[in-house]
Amino acid sequence: LERGTDESPTKFVTRLFAAAIARAFPQLEWPDPAVMRCANDKFGDYQCNAPMSIFKALKGAAKSPRAVGEAIVASIPANQFVASTSVAPAGFVNTVLRSEILSAFAVSVARSGAVPAPPLSAFGGKRQVLVDFSSPNVAKEMHVGHLRSTIIGDTVCRVLEYCGHEVRRVNHLGDWGTQFGMLITHLETAYPDFTENPPNITDLTTFYKDAKKRFDADPEFKDKSRARVVTLQAGDPRSLEIWRLLCDLSRKEFDKVYERLDVALNEYGESYYNDMIPGTIEELERKGLVSDENGAACIHLPNHGFPLIVRKSDGGYGYDSTDAAAVRHRLIDLGCDWLVYITDVGQQEHFHMVFEMARAAGWTRDDVRLRHVGFGVVQGLDGKRFRTRSSETTRLVDLLDEAVVRMEASLVDRVKDGKCSLSDDKVKEAAAVVGYGAVKYFDLHQHPATNYKFSYDKMLSTSGNTAVYLLYSHARLASIIRKSGLDVPTLVVQDLVHHPKERQLAFELSLFVDVVEAVANDYLPNRLCDYLYRLSTKFTDFVTDCKVLGDPRQSERLVLCEATGVVMRQAFTLLGIKYLMQI
Ligand code: ARG
Repeated sequence: LERGTDESPTKFVTRLFAAAIARAFPQLEWPDPAVMRCANDKFGDYQCNAPMSIFKALKGAAKSPRAVGEAIVASIPANQFVASTSVAPAGFVNTVLRSEILSAFAVSVARSGAVPAPPLSAFGGKRQVLVDFSSPNVAKEMHVGHLRSTIIGDTVCRVLEYCGHEVRRVNHLGDWGTQFGMLITHLETAYPDFTENPPNITDLTTFYKDAKKRFDADPEFKDKSRARVVTLQAGDPRSLEIWRLLCDLSRKEFDKVYERLDVALNEYGESYYNDMIPGTIEELERKGLVSDENGAACIHLPNHGFPLIVRKSDGGYGYDSTDAAAVRHRLIDLGCDWLVYITDVGQQEHFHMVFEMARAAGWTRDDVRLRHVGFGVVQGLDGKRFRTRSSETTRLVDLLDEAVVRMEASLVDRVKDGKCSLSDDKVKEAAAVVGYGAVKYFDLHQHPATNYKFSYDKMLSTSGNTAVYLLYSHARLASIIRKSGLDVPTLVVQDLVHHPKERQLAFELSLFVDVVEAVANDYLPNRLCDYLYRLSTKFTDFVTDCKVLGDPRQSERLVLCEATGVVMRQAFTLLGIKYLMQI
């Protein structure tokens, strides 16, 4: 059996065992050889876990799981890949790859300075992806939930872009809806000369709260506000002007966060879909999906206790209407075949209903993927929903700045202790890179669905699974290479893989491509973080046991360091984290 040029080692070994099982037990049409990395490095690189379940499926026709394992081994097709196999008493087949294979992979990474991405064929070709993320609301606070969406969404986009897909990064800004009647009316009365003398609404949240207070307390204000939504939606120029002003003010605040986080987004706010709503509802009606309930246009979907309301009884459009028009636009007009929405888990049912509606309306082909990635709540150390300490509103910019300030203090201490030799202005630069990286990584390294407690101490810790630890360990690697004074990618080398720690590191490097493919399929960036952490610990084990500089195997070991650096930097980049060559 030959390995395909862009086939990952894991996929090839999987195919190899599938072929062996098919030969040994043709009667079973066994679906999955269950190949994974060995639980313990001692036994080999991969293990095939299928023998036990095959033994059961054979219902007494085989002597033991071990006999099944042996039959499989006897049927492995001739190949250039596997050095040896051994069958465990429970039947697993442990497999050791030829070290030349691992060595050649690391050498090619070091030489080219790039790691191969999974082939597009792994996804059934190049996809038109749209990721709907971040999506804060105008005049409301951009809270930590939006921060999570922004960070997770950016990584998902980076991974899909790296795989070669066409990716649209969409900010579904909450810039439309009934709250604008109230906001416009409040602005006009509280700041009558706003055109000549634009108000300095630095804290839009307070503005929003004041407006809401008036709305709840003053019936006349309430009526005016309601009438104003209608005027706005009918396109009244003055209302639109004020609406634009409010959006601009919010946008400025949001952009500060995006700039600090280095996240690119294209704004297609809710207002963008406004004109598409009537046509969308008509189409849904024509397809028999809409029922009238006391004047409201509703879409009932099986297994949901409530409908999507695409038109309210007063004729107004809401969140559901916009999402109906948006999903249709994305699938039909833009021709996207993968849609990914990233919001808190609380909105999961809403999106599942939107997806079911889209399928029922016939807007999807079978291979179209519609996914919602729901994330948990960020809590303070007290376990309550997270708030920054300065005010009751969460200023995300402050939160990010705080991480940088704390990181700077810790770097200054390191300089004092002689642990690091950065100059003053380099300390500032490094603090920003590590501080922002730490906030992002702290979020990304947990499974999105979990709630987590926001802790500066944990995220800025120099040990454990943190960005700080990883960035330091990368800088250490870079310093070994620098100290050699050699142009490492061009060194002439023999087999890189002799020592067990060399082998474990090289094997780990070869698994990167599988991890990227998994993240591109399930949108769980924590997999990539786990990988990076594991790689980093394998690197530490390697340099602890294997002397690099001055050793007879210096060239080989430097190349292994270089390959590790390339993979680490690629992983950082996919996580939206900058790295340093020196800390
Ligand atoms: N603005 C919403 C919020 O803050 C998120 C929007 C998500 N995207 C969408 N297409 N509904 O919760």
